[in-house]
Amino acid sequence: MSRRMLVAGNWKMFTTSGEGAVLIQDLAQRVEEVWDEVEVAVCPPFTGLKAASTVIELDKLTMSLGAQDVHWEAEGAFTGAIAPRMLADLRCDYVIVGHSERREYFGDTNETVNKKVRAVFDAGMVPIMCCGESLATREALETDAFVRAQVMEGAAGLSAEEAAQLVIAYEPIWAIGTGRTPTPESANDVCRSIRATIGAMYGPPAAMAVRVLYGGSVKAENAKMFLSEPDIDGGLVGGAALNADSFADIAKAAL
Ligand code: 13P
Repeated sequence: MSRRMLVAGNWKMFTTSGEGAVLIQDLAQRVEEVWDEVEVAVCPPFTGLKAASTVIELDKLTMSLGAQDVHWEAEGAFTGAIAPRMLADLRCDYVIVGHSERREYFGDTNETVNKKVRAVFDAGMVPIMCCGESLATREALETDAFVRAQVMEGAAGLSAEEAAQLVIAYEPIWAIGTGRTPTPESANDVCRSIRATIGAMYGPPAAMAVRVLYGGSVKAENAKMFLSEPDIDGGLVGGAALNADSFADIAKAAL
């Protein structure tokens, strides 16, 4: 079974809505040719989603849209938080959940990540659930067990159909924004283990269908190495996604 590649840009806290709209238009021209084989998604900050959604719809762009986080409750007195249906209303296709920056600075845990995954599916969108180890965990040779536990707890309680739709991004924390990366083989080993974990939880068809992305210092120069590994189905890109040329080159490397 072939999985469609997904290259997603996580814009983090870098773009105003106007800057984002321009970036999407620049990007769309460059990636249109890859769309049949490679899905390209952008994940602006919350304040940029409306403009992004409008530009994608009005200009009929071949581009998916994602948010960077969400609250797990459907609504309520949670000042400053955003509910899943608010994102669905803006035609978001994806929601990143459990990014290591949310875990480190905003207290996300495997338990809250799991609630967010549930809430995103319930609102008709697809979670991009992040996992990945710290340098200390890697040096202690505990990466595999650590990441498996993140996946088992974060992706618990789904149906097999939901598990098949899920996107999991493996992002070693020490590779994010540092220019350091694992070897493609070692990244693929972890991605294979993530797939096997989904297989153990939800069966072989879900394992074959789940898309596992690599993230962490993906650049135009190294993208091909990661994206040609058999268990890596795309990339979650930070810094290099803020430039239309470099992000388009990464998307083309997924062909
Ligand atoms: P960089 O590509 O800047 O290392 O960021 C990766 C990331 O955190 C994407 O979610």
